[in-house]
Amino acid sequence: MKKIALLIFLCFSLNNYTKAVEGMWIPSLIEMFHSDMQTYGLKLSPEDIYSTNKASLKDAIVQFNGGCTAEIVSEQGLLLTNHHCGFDAIQRHSSLENDYLKNGFWSKSQSEELACPWMRVTFVKEIRDVTKEVFQGISEMDLSTDEGMDIINKNIMMLERAESTNSIQAKIKPFNMGNQYYMLITEDYNDIRLVGTPPSAIGKYGGDTDNWVWPRHTGDFAVFRIYADKDNNSAKFNESNIPYKPDHFLPISLKNKTEGDFTMIYGFPGHTDQHYSYYKLKFYMEKERPSRIKMRQMSLDIIKPAMNKSDAIRIKYASKQARIANAWKKWIGQIGGLNELHALEKKEKWAIEYMSKAMEKDEWFMYQNVINDLNKLQIANSKYEFARSMFIEYFYVGPEFLRYAHQFNNIANKYSELKTAGKLDQEIKKLIGSSKGFFKNYDGNIDHDIFKALTPMYISQLDPELLPEGFKSNWSKNGEKVFCKSIIMNPEKINALLSNFNEKSSKKLQKDPALMMANDLFKSYVNNTSEAYSTFIEEEDRLMKIYVSGILTMFPEKKTWADANSTMRITYGKLEGSAPVDGMQYLHYSTIDGIMQKYDPENPDFQLTERFLELYNKKDFGDYLQDGELWVCFTASNHTTGGNSGSPVIDADGNLMGINFDRSWESTMSDFMFDESRCRNIAIDSRYLLWVIDKYGKAGHLIKEMKLIR
Ligand code: ARG
Ligand code: GLU
Repeated sequence: MKKIALLIFLCFSLNNYTKAVEGMWIPSLIEMFHSDMQTYGLKLSPEDIYSTNKASLKDAIVQFNGGCTAEIVSEQGLLLTNHHCGFDAIQRHSSLENDYLKNGFWSKSQSEELACPWMRVTFVKEIRDVTKEVFQGISEMDLSTDEGMDIINKNIMMLERAESTNSIQAKIKPFNMGNQYYMLITEDYNDIRLVGTPPSAIGKYGGDTDNWVWPRHTGDFAVFRIYADKDNNSAKFNESNIPYKPDHFLPISLKNKTEGDFTMIYGFPGHTDQHYSYYKLKFYMEKERPSRIKMRQMSLDIIKPAMNKSDAIRIKYASKQARIANAWKKWIGQIGGLNELHALEKKEKWAIEYMSKAMEKDEWFMYQNVINDLNKLQIANSKYEFARSMFIEYFYVGPEFLRYAHQFNNIANKYSELKTAGKLDQEIKKLIGSSKGFFKNYDGNIDHDIFKALTPMYISQLDPELLPEGFKSNWSKNGEKVFCKSIIMNPEKINALLSNFNEKSSKKLQKDPALMMANDLFKSYVNNTSEAYSTFIEEEDRLMKIYVSGILTMFPEKKTWADANSTMRITYGKLEGSAPVDGMQYLHYSTIDGIMQKYDPENPDFQLTERFLELYNKKDFGDYLQDGELWVCFTASNHTTGGNSGSPVIDADGNLMGINFDRSWESTMSDFMFDESRCRNIAIDSRYLLWVIDKYGKAGHLIKEMKLIR
């Protein structure tokens, strides 16, 4: 009896002491981590999760338009992802008359679903280890030389070509800094339609105030559908296409949830940097990110008040503002989290451990100096890396006229080439389209203000020798010209010019102040920075490969995982709260009462609609309650990153518990360094999602399509 009691105690405490799991695992290697997942409570077999012979979970999960993740939840290709992942589509279908951002949208039948022909979803058919084939023909010592890389690249090209067809893409990507290679065999579907979305007052509730923060009350989801041709094959948008029939779809769980429940997230994490050297991390924490944060802060200080003042501006700038604010806030959280973790000290300690290990065997000599070399390389090149970051921040995130005007380069400077090649009309058509799209969401006054705020900052941050000529003086005068004289920046004038374009028009464009300024900036980046930066990165890649090979060779007992690279991954953990700050304990879930507590009609981030208030006051919660509460969001200890938005949170039986959409602020540093005790992802609860569709959206027909598990 005592023995049994002890056993039960041990099992129980074992379960209690399993911690958050660092790592993003490759689904095809499921056998390697499956038994660990079982200790967390998983009940599925490896083949249920990933298989190339039969339907498995992987067949219900797609990459959504190249960035986020989405999951199929019905036999008719119904797709769930985040509101913020579908934001661009929702915004593009919105106008002042049909303001889907503000009011939401629910199609009543399939014929009302809104086509998004610019979108795609990507299925993964197979993930295959091709390391041996990629390394074919090179000895181990040549691995990181130029000749070695040439052979590797040739092998990759050949292997990809052999597996690709018209509809199937085979892409080989490096893992573990090029110590391993995997082939991803994928298929795109291109007819995606918007089926439904809650209003921003639900889908973006809490806005940027709550973004990256727990406790959270955002109903961050949207509903789409994949369409296929009559044979279920991928096809371009066509009225006559029919809903896609998936190999597998996720049932949705209505079951009660308990802290400690197994959670698995299946999706497409974008990018992590666990292997940064000490100096690189220091550079990021102390210089690179703080400067970028400052530049974004300036833009936001201009955009946000303008949006609050005018509905037209709010619609135009909603998507842009969200994008700028999102990384801005994450970076602030990351720096805080890394400091809190004493990340730099940890890097230093680890370097000593690594280097002493390398001294143990002669054959490990190449690992002895690699960390020092990486640090030295970083110190010598931070200047270029910084100039590149500033250029990205200024050119691609800052004043919009720069990247818009830059598109007119070909037609201005290569007129005769385009004409002889018969490509002129095509180019003109493209530019007419892109200028129409640009001005739909543009306000010259806002852009001018951003230009005036960011330019001095850009100039003062940059090494003078890396600055573009026109920015050394006169930038302000040149800027005035852009905003009053440029043809490119005038929607009517540029349309007229393009509609009747000849050689004289191209000469006119060559002198356009907006194009001249964009070119000045772009050229100076290419001439002064980009080459030095590329040389630096090549050398860094070479050293990183050696460094990571050292971890794999010298520390075989370490649970290593390959940094995220936008390929399909699995992470697992459990439903749990956290206590990231002294004196504070976060619960593992939030409820609809919290939405009401945060409600503030004066604050644009915390508005509610009449309908929501009405349903809440009537307590019309259907059978979506757990012990009398309607859960809205929950946290779990899965290691996730950007790209995991929209990813399904899957329970021990393979059912959908919720949709991942964020991490808590205290855990955003997990892109560089994971911490078991505080890293938590944030998901919208499946029952809140169903309540919104059913009660709020009155779209019960969509729920009927789904398979609910009670
Ligand atoms: N932080 C989440 C992510 O990185 C959500 C972003 C969208 N929400 C927002 N309020 N901007 O994508
Ligand atoms: N919201 C993020 C995304 O769009 C996910 C949050 C994170 O970075 O973990 O992918």
